[in-house]
Amino acid sequence: MGKIVIAIDGYSGCGKSSTAKALAKNLGYTYIDSGAMYRAATLHFLNENLSLSSEDEVRRGLDSLEISFRINPETGLQETYLNGRNVEDEIRSMHISQKVSELATVASIRKELVAQQQRLGRGKGVVMDGRDIGSVVFPTAELKVFMTANLKTRAKRRQLELLEKGQSVDLIDIEENLANRDEVDSSRTESPLMKMPDAEEVDTSDLTLEEQVAKIILLAKAKIKMN
Ligand code: DC
Repeated sequence: MGKIVIAIDGYSGCGKSSTAKALAKNLGYTYIDSGAMYRAATLHFLNENLSLSSEDEVRRGLDSLEISFRINPETGLQETYLNGRNVEDEIRSMHISQKVSELATVASIRKELVAQQQRLGRGKGVVMDGRDIGSVVFPTAELKVFMTANLKTRAKRRQLELLEKGQSVDLIDIEENLANRDEVDSSRTESPLMKMPDAEEVDTSDLTLEEQVAKIILLAKAKIKMN
């Protein structure tokens, strides 16, 4: 059976990453977290004190940026590396969450990250999640999923995730950050977040992780059969 490309897009905190990871594991596919790439780039620009409004500095930032993913042999989980350093926890902090949407509006940065994402997905057998995967990165993906969930549910899930990493953040601050990112991500001129006409919409507000994964596995298996 032929391998396919699965594109999962949607708002911040809908459970895209957890779903995409579980789906990739079930199918024996590679999972790629495109949001982690924007987050790692944000950390890099902050660390190097580079301005997003200077073309020169953006170029310098991109020239010195190397993002990779490695599996942690102890946990079996994928972790993000920035120029050879493990930044998995750092890029999930609220500080980066507050800055990342701005970097994601810069056309030249998107162009570079999209090219890297396309290279990573060349061999098919890939599940990638983000905001523009079905529209820009893999417009011919065999399966496109658009995930949604109401803001309260998303904020509660994100709060739990942060707590598990030892970060205690007020629900209201998380809600504000998610709502703000939804707005910036959907209204930017460069590759805004949108539901493609050929995407399957999955509302996860009332679904458990197991239920949402099971639903998308069914969609994926149907597409794989047709391939
Ligand atoms: O999926 P995430 O919340 O980790 O993504 C972080 C930010 O990166 C998100 O607010 C918008 C941006 N992003 C994007 O613009 N395009 C993608 N394909 C993935 C993420």
